[in-house]
Amino acid sequence: MTEQTPVTQAAAAPVTLPDAQEVTEVRHYTDRLFSFKTTRPPSLRFRSGEFVMIGLMGDPDPKTGKQKPLMRAYSIASPSWDDELEFYSIKVADGPLTSRLQHIEPGDRIILRPKPVGTLVHDALLPGKRLWLFATGTGFAPFASLLRDPETYENFDRVIVTHTCREVAELTYSKETIGKIRSDELFAELIGEEGLDKLVYYPTTTREESPKMGRITELLKSGEVFRDLGLPEGMSPDADRAMVCGSMGLNLDLKDILEGYGLREGANSEPAEYVVEKAFVG
Ligand code: A2P
Repeated sequence: MTEQTPVTQAAAAPVTLPDAQEVTEVRHYTDRLFSFKTTRPPSLRFRSGEFVMIGLMGDPDPKTGKQKPLMRAYSIASPSWDDELEFYSIKVADGPLTSRLQHIEPGDRIILRPKPVGTLVHDALLPGKRLWLFATGTGFAPFASLLRDPETYENFDRVIVTHTCREVAELTYSKETIGKIRSDELFAELIGEEGLDKLVYYPTTTREESPKMGRITELLKSGEVFRDLGLPEGMSPDADRAMVCGSMGLNLDLKDILEGYGLREGANSEPAEYVVEKAFVG
């Protein structure tokens, strides 16, 4: 049964919602970005990199007074072994969901449909040597999950994650996540020092001065990324695998670049050399 509760109240007091999960932590990074954690339904199994639908109850219809859940796809940013779920979100002032979601606090409840899906998963890639994870903005979320999954380091010799944002502060979430991975003693025990050595973080900004500037697409085309990482220029379908998560423009431009190297798009049903998914927006 669906209990009808206005969203405005949902942020203020615990209420009963369908598939409700409790918010346990909220962190704000900029006026555009925040992350939050929730309890995990005991029955929820997912593969690192997948997404679920989450949301809040919408306002009552002025005519009927009925409310509908307001749901959006969100990549799960936590790894599949974690007790809690983590999400990384943009805040859009007039976004139907995020204009409200950005006000959640620990103790509040959100709706979470426990049906994970997605293509940014190991199963959709053929075995390879190097794994490239290309993110812009909140597209880093599924990689925050995959980078905390031991399988990522078991499957590849090198794991290169690039994150491009407009401004330096927008890199905080990825920077902190990578920092935690590198300093987590339990994780180091699990994947070994040599596992941690495989991880390369390559952050870039496009609209504010930082040590590495430019769109990742341009840095790939000019060969700068490969020179910076001490790799031979270009990619090969034998060795390189890629996952892409960003805006529509980024996804399309990177598809062109990857296919230019001879990589083919994979899917759960037919694994290949790269996979793409649109980052959550609005
Ligand atoms: P730029 O500042 O040059 O537009 P957004 O905040 O709009 O989602 O963008 C996040 C980051 O993704 C920005 O640094 C932006 O660069 C970059 N970006 C947007 N579109 C593309 C694209 N088609 N190819 C490469 N990078 C892109």
